[in-house]
Order: sequence, then C-alpha cells, then structure tokens
Amino acid sequence: MELKKRKLILDVDTGSDDALAIMSAVLSPEFEIVGICTVNGNRPVEYTTENTLRVLELLKADIPVIRGCATPITATLDPLRKMRQRSNDGVNEEGKEVTYHTEYLPLPPATKKAVPGTNAVCWYIDTLMKAEEKITLVMVGPLTNFALAYRAEPEIMKNVEEIILMSGGHDQRNSTAASEYNVFIDPEATAIVLNCGAKITMMPLDATHKANMRPCHEAVFVSWKNPVGDFVAAEIRGRLDAYNTMQPLHEPDIAPIHDALCIMYLLDPSVITKMKHMRCDVICGGMADGMTLFDTRHFNDAPKNVYVCLDTDEEKFASMLIDILSRSKDL
Ligand code: BDR
Ligand code: CA
Repeated sequence: MELKKRKLILDVDTGSDDALAIMSAVLSPEFEIVGICTVNGNRPVEYTTENTLRVLELLKADIPVIRGCATPITATLDPLRKMRQRSNDGVNEEGKEVTYHTEYLPLPPATKKAVPGTNAVCWYIDTLMKAEEKITLVMVGPLTNFALAYRAEPEIMKNVEEIILMSGGHDQRNSTAASEYNVFIDPEATAIVLNCGAKITMMPLDATHKANMRPCHEAVFVSWKNPVGDFVAAEIRGRLDAYNTMQPLHEPDIAPIHDALCIMYLLDPSVITKMKHMRCDVICGGMADGMTLFDTRHFNDAPKNVYVCLDTDEEKFASMLIDILSRSKDL
C-alpha cells in the first residue's frame, strides 16, 4: 500500500540549522513538501533564499522556493528596539572567525531561482485557499510571512492542519535575556501567529538545546567522504565553534540543531519527552521585547494556545538525524 504523505510547507531563514531541517524533510518519504518560503532572519532574505535553493540542489530536489519578507512587520521602525540584536559573528580565543550562519552556505551557487512573480505572503494565500487537502506548516524562522498572510486573508486557516514552530524560550533564551532569536526578530508576527486559532506545537529553546550534534557526530559525517557528509560536517563544526565562543550552553562542545527538531517531532513525537498545553503570549517592546510569556498558573482561565515542548530525548534526536541524512547516499 502506498504511504499517505503528509503535506508540508516549510518557512525558513536558511541558515545552518534550517539547512539540516530542510534536508531532513526532503529525505523523509513521509512528507510531500508543497513549497518552501524564505524570510529575513539569520541573514537577509536574498541570502536565505539562495541558501535554500543551494540545499535543494545538493539533494537534487525539485521543490518550489518562494521568496518572502525582507523586513519584520514593525519591529525595525523603532531603531532602539533592535539595538541589542545578537550578532552572528565573533572571533574565538585563537583569533579564528566564527559564525552561527555564514552569509552563503558553502555549496555551489544555485542554478534555479525562486518562483517568479510572487512572494511568500501572496503564495500562502493562494496555495492555502486552493488546497484540496489540509497542509501542515513548519516555520523555523521569524514568522513575518504567515502573519501577514493571515492578516490579509484569515480564511486560509481552513486548510491549515497544524503549525509547528521553532520559537521562544521558557527557561532558556538566546537573543537577549528575555527573548529567543526568531521571536525577537519579529515579535508582532509571533503574537499574530500564536493567536491564529490553529493547533500549534512550539519547540522553544528548552527543547532545542537538547537537540544537539557533538564532535562524535561531526566525525560520522566526515567519514562519509561525500558532498552531503562534507557539508553537514562543516555546518556542525561551524556551530560548535560559534556556540563554544559566543554562547556556551550547559556543557561545552554541543551544537543545537534547533530547526531540525520540528521535523523529527513530526516523524516521531516520542523524541519530545516533556510537553505542556499552555497559554503563551509575546511581549512586544520594552526591556523584555520578544519574550514568550508562558502562563504556568494552575488556576489560569486564559485559553491555552500552544503545546509547548520542554525536553528532548537527545540520543534519539541525534540518531534520527544521522539516519535520515544517510539516505542521501542513495541519491
Ligand atoms: C533559531 O534562531 C536561528 O538562528 C536558528 O536558525 C533557529 O531557528 C534559534 O533561536
Ligand atoms: Ca531558523
């Protein structure tokens, strides 16, 4: 019997960990990827679009890429608000330049282009209004594209199966003391999406800081001695160096592959070991700009709007990721 594929739209700011999420989705026969929207985030949208195209060509995958928003909805109107934006780049103790995300991923320039004559906001509306089957949205960058699409045409929700987000932080944050990067870049967009009425599952940093690659995993990819292995190993090494230098976590030599956890969760929800249904709101502006505020009270009466993933089976995540990416050897 033929496998019934789950239809997905990905929304990405590629980006090293976005790249591994895209690759995991492309290499999973469980999914049919309807399109990949790009957005300003880790790098400006020209780069995140080109990087997305490069990753697809590495896997010989023919999937439409739709260029999305170049700026957040309103967050950059007040320059003071973004003064504390985290830099991607730094220099380690040996004087070596490190970065979470190179401007261009180290892959050959893409030969294909993004879908002409449209943008992610219009494409979401068009695609979701016409869809014959509900579609799951996996959004692992700032949420600007879908927030604007929903504002313009709320009826698109009729064809949204569910939304999986890499967003936010409960006990853990990375951009500022209050905020996670994807939310910090466009807090208003996050607030809109969290209130769009869909079933939403959120991977905050609490879960993704356990979705790690380590030097032992880097060595596995190096041993493949092929373009996919070399690329993945380089991205893991870049993230290990960047985290060790600029954002040491609870232990050294771990590189969270945040965005890929969303794909692993869809494939096997048991990769998440702790989840709570909660109310989550976003603080827009001020000292806590971009903070995801989770209502943990037992007696709260505000409607719960997200399933929040709070812990990860780290070994399962790593073995799933390696296993799925190893399918590229058969391409
Ligand atoms: C998120 O921010 C980006 O840098 C990553 O790609 C991930 O989506 C983690 O905070
Ligand atoms: Ca991302």
